[in-house]
Amino acid sequence: MAYSALYEKSFRKMQSLIGAQVDIAPGPGWRWVDEKPARYSGEIERFFWENTDRAIDKWVHYLPLYERYFAPFRHRPVRVLEIGVQNGGSARMWRDWFGPEAILFGIDIDPACAQLDGESARIRIGSQDDATFLRSVVAEMGGLDVVIDDGSHVMSHIHSSFRTLFPLLSEGGVYLVEDLHTAYWADYEGGYRRRSSFLETVKIMIDDMHCWYHGSGQMERASADMLGGLHVHDSLVVIDKAAMHPPRRAMTGTTQLAGHGSKAGGS
Ligand SMILES: C[S@@+](CC[C@H](N)C(=O)[O-])C[C@H]1O[C@@H](n2cnc3c(N)ncnc32)[C@H](O)[C@@H]1O
Repeated sequence: MAYSALYEKSFRKMQSLIGAQVDIAPGPGWRWVDEKPARYSGEIERFFWENTDRAIDKWVHYLPLYERYFAPFRHRPVRVLEIGVQNGGSARMWRDWFGPEAILFGIDIDPACAQLDGESARIRIGSQDDATFLRSVVAEMGGLDVVIDDGSHVMSHIHSSFRTLFPLLSEGGVYLVEDLHTAYWADYEGGYRRRSSFLETVKIMIDDMHCWYHGSGQMERASADMLGGLHVHDSLVVIDKAAMHPPRRAMTGTTQLAGHGSKAGGS
């Protein structure tokens, strides 16, 4: 089944679960029915809603989150890889946001996307679960600072890309995975608390980040010792890459209330 048909099938199932909070207009070339915000939260939201050019497909609550996590990289020679290019609209949005200095690459499994090469990003054709292909793209980019995984949304593919790309990400970089509602959908190898789900891996990473306190070691080897932060939003996860160091505790000042001396393990 083609990617979009599969997504639409699962989406409709989700719709019946959550009611009519999101809707799709009838007719050919369906589009989301949604109101433009009265005020834009920032430039990404503006670009998205004012877009009359190449199509961009986004859940609208992602837009301010992109601004939050991508702000430190704006107008810098940052190396950005988008997995899943589709119509090329999001690549245009990233170019607008990151600026002319950004080294922007997109990959897609669909050969039709090759025609977008050079428009606002370099486009390479291949699968996100092909580690050799991913490494060759990163080599061409000269390194990696930002990953946006908006590809197949299949759990094994998300894991495969993450395990190849996260070790290649520069320190200080961010790895963003979107549409993680598929982590609950069997058609995408997901399921509630199913081990194959990427959200279950994120839960393991939470434990890994706290390895100092449980002493059981780190399980998710791709991100070992490099979990600077984990940000979980509805269907969107951002992982900051930063070296982990044992926590240091300090107390400053000299005056303590009677009986409020230092206690083991807590502040
Ligand atoms: C959700 S669309 C991308 C939407 C686009 N980023 C946007 O915001 O408008 C997903 C894209 O991932 C591509 N894709 C599906 N499986 C893939 C895979 N295994 N590797 C790379 N790309 C894949 C599809 O061809 C499709 O173009």
